[in-house]
Amino acid sequence: MAISDELRALESEALAAVGAAETLEDLEAVRIGFLGKKGSLTAILRGLGGLSAEERPEAGRVSNEVRRSVESALDAKREELERAARASRIAAEVVDVTLPGRARPLGHQHVLHQVVDEIVEIFSGLGYRVAEGPEVELDYYNFTALNHPADHPARALQDTFYVKDLSGDRAVVEGESDVLLRTHTSPGQVHVMETQQPPIYVVVPGKVYRRDVADPSHLPQFTQVEGLVVDEGITFGDLKGTLEHFVREMFGPDRRVRLRPHFFPFTEPSAEVDVSCGICGGSGCRSCGGEGWLEILGCGMVDPNVFGYVGIDPEKYTGFAFGMGAERIAGLKYGVPDLRHFIEGDTRFLHQF
Ligand code: PHE
Repeated sequence: MAISDELRALESEALAAVGAAETLEDLEAVRIGFLGKKGSLTAILRGLGGLSAEERPEAGRVSNEVRRSVESALDAKREELERAARASRIAAEVVDVTLPGRARPLGHQHVLHQVVDEIVEIFSGLGYRVAEGPEVELDYYNFTALNHPADHPARALQDTFYVKDLSGDRAVVEGESDVLLRTHTSPGQVHVMETQQPPIYVVVPGKVYRRDVADPSHLPQFTQVEGLVVDEGITFGDLKGTLEHFVREMFGPDRRVRLRPHFFPFTEPSAEVDVSCGICGGSGCRSCGGEGWLEILGCGMVDPNVFGYVGIDPEKYTGFAFGMGAERIAGLKYGVPDLRHFIEGDTRFLHQF
């Protein structure tokens, strides 16, 4: 076969192969097969030098034509395949902006914190400020300055968590540390009166700790809100009116308040406060244990001995204090019979609020 026929045959073979290529990889294989270093067209072009002088010009012209035609077919096909590859990539990556977004479950404030906030709000409305005190407290603030005698049972190891002082810097009384986890928010009263002069109107919310085993009505860690008022001419009537206002705001306008005489070392006189049962209205039912009343807090007039510890003149000022358990208030407000629900973190319970 004449060399130009050979070239033409190779050309149609190459053009057919280019036409059949389905991917850029196929096409590259075709290019290498014909035009690569060891390609069949390259081999013929290399052999041109060995041709006779008559054959050479014609063979050179044809081979140039064939090379150009194969190259331009390769270029055109490459462009076509690249365009198709781009189009299919875009089709695959397309984002359907009309699809609904993924719903993320929203968290919300724990019911106990909602209730603490609500208590604080009610007293803020009466002009009270919020104060805080440490949870790790000195015996002095938790007991001594609150007029507890040295042998008061609350000071005993079985009621109070004592913190061991490893530094050994502090005097340790009778084998016990004088550092403890506060058993109530009342030490907050002492801190406030040490640093502020009357008139004082504060609430002190916070965690407190007692050596109790968790059961439906006890938790070893729970939450209290303390209240303290010190001003000229404060009476027990002011205390009662304040608590009545609080109870109606918290539980509703129909609820009544009852004060029972009680004892606390740091208030005199002292009382425990009951709210009328929301189910039976006071006549007695199963939910209030037949009593008609539910205990919600302790309170009283600040004992002059406490004023003595903090340097407030008991001749000039009087005051009242109260302390309530937030879990208890929340339990009554929402009818939760077991306080342990508030600390267990079960979302089936928590999502109800
Ligand atoms: N601290 C008392 C308790 O935890 C409650 C209380 C506070 C009583 C303020 C009187 C005055 O039981």
